[in-house]
Amino acid sequence: MSIVTGAAAVDLALWGTTKAAALDQKAYAKAVDVVRMGVIGYGYWGPNIVRNLHSLENCEVVALCDKSTAALQRANRVYPRMTVTTDFSEILTSPTIDAVAVVTPVWTHYELAKAALQNGKHVFVEKPFTATSKQAEELLELADRNNLKIMVDHTFLFSGPVKKIRELVDNGTLGSLYYFDSTRVNLGLFQHDVSVVWDLAPHDLSIMDYIIAAKAEAVVATGANHLNGHADMAFITIYFPGNVVAHINVNWLSPVKVRTTLIGGKDKMLVWNDLEPDEKIKVYDKGVQITNGQSVYDLLVSYRSGDVWSPKVEQTEALQVELRHFVDCILNDRTPSNDGEAGLRIVRLLESAEQSLKAKGKLVYL
Ligand SMILES: NC(=O)c1ccc[n+]([C@@H]2O[C@H](COP(=O)([O-])OP(=O)(O)OC[C@H]3O[C@@H](n4cnc5c(N)ncnc54)[C@H](O)[C@@H]3O)[C@@H](O)[C@H]2O)c1
Repeated sequence: MSIVTGAAAVDLALWGTTKAAALDQKAYAKAVDVVRMGVIGYGYWGPNIVRNLHSLENCEVVALCDKSTAALQRANRVYPRMTVTTDFSEILTSPTIDAVAVVTPVWTHYELAKAALQNGKHVFVEKPFTATSKQAEELLELADRNNLKIMVDHTFLFSGPVKKIRELVDNGTLGSLYYFDSTRVNLGLFQHDVSVVWDLAPHDLSIMDYIIAAKAEAVVATGANHLNGHADMAFITIYFPGNVVAHINVNWLSPVKVRTTLIGGKDKMLVWNDLEPDEKIKVYDKGVQITNGQSVYDLLVSYRSGDVWSPKVEQTEALQVELRHFVDCILNDRTPSNDGEAGLRIVRLLESAEQSLKAKGKLVYL
């Protein structure tokens, strides 16, 4: 059943008996350099996706689906001319839609993305890509077979600070990396269907995956659930070759919000505090050098403490940059940097972390 309510009275009629004809007219009017999007899910995050897609010159949001009529009413107040429906199959089968954004809870991603790919649509899927790595592998294979794009919303990779950090790593400013240590804690928002690991850690893991070029070897996670059966705090350690280590602290039970990442390199170290309005990144010319003296107990440690500087970071909204990249990849047949493979790597890390956490910190090899 498709329902359109409230302010969408005009569109109601459009989406009713004449809906197919209206969509066909839009298809006829399509310019070759425009991607026509359908969005499924208009809860907390969906409005950000729709707003940013709407702002892109070579993208048209053709239709929006949510099974909640209250969500559609909200959407209609902002976009009174947008076609809306409660039935996702109408989005998935519409000939006037080129690509679908799946902005629904994690456990629905696989089913919706699969149906979209089977109907010849490119897909933009929210993080985490899928609930299991097997599902992710299946979607990758399906997209590959049908020559379609998958992009997973790893929003932070398109933010000014993360781009700057990657630049500082790539151009050798930090020197060889020692560690990546990220804290993402606040009070809530408790999710009813996933643990804090699947809710918050995809952000840190995708940033880590982007910054540290090496392939992760093993994961250890500890944590606990205090309230609703899902872990609400977790400490995840990821081991890389060459003694590079990453640590991620995610917590829904923190009295204060913290968004801080420390990255230690042989030559420089940096702190990224995402809550700072300016000077989000500070690079420290600090380091330690250890040399052995003549006897085995003769350890000579010298500490270097030099300048601190704050590089300029881009201020553009990351989600807009990311969605522009998605549209460009479709129009120019390019592979998104955060493609399904990147999504799969993160799902594998999440699965391993969950497995380790359940076994009270058992080392899980990837
Ligand atoms: N990239 C980010 O920074 C970021 C931030 C928040 C959430 N997310 C992700 O976005 C996704 C959605 O999260 P949310 O917080 O918006 O959830 P939410 O529960 O607030 O909203 C989900 C919406 O999807 C609708 N829905 C569910 N199943 C549907 C179906 N089969 N057909 C049509 N509509 C359906 C629900 O009615 C609801 O309105 C999750 O995967 C989450 O991890 C990403």
